Amino acid sequence: MKISIVNGPNLKYIGQREPDIYGNVSLDNLKNYINQYIKTPCQIEVYQSNSEGALIDYLETLWENEWDGIVINAGAYTHTSIALADCLSWIKLPYVEVHLSNIYARETFRHKSFLSAKAIGVICGFGIYGYVLGVQALIKNIEQGG
Ligand code: DQA
Repeated sequence: MKISIVNGPNLKYIGQREPDIYGNVSLDNLKNYINQYIKTPCQIEVYQSNSEGALIDYLETLWENEWDGIVINAGAYTHTSIALADCLSWIKLPYVEVHLSNIYARETFRHKSFLSAKAIGVICGFGIYGYVLGVQALIKNIEQGG
């Protein structure tokens, strides 16, 4: 099983960016962090870009190469990007939306997500552990045939 962890803008420096909100695990350590918890053999790749177009290009390669699913934290594009939502909608790879912070406990502009409607589910507020929850939920969903 091949699962990609896709991160949008301003997530390159998690661990250093406002650690009171986003925690202190770095993106470089994210894969090892997730692998500590995941028992199902699977290939996990972590990708990050600050650019909306690059994120869409990358999502298209996941579709081209028949990846099994996506855990996506699109950062602020969550709240703005119809283009990302359109891409996730047409490539039809199952995805879980993750946010480190509890977006509903923050500014109201963070309460709207263009990505949630077509996600399997949404996880927010558990910090870096949310990615683990996302991968576990995704694996279960894929194993059960969606
Ligand atoms: C975030 C929440 C977004 O509102 C914010 O723009 C981010 C990170 C999170 O992981 O909590 O960059 O997606």
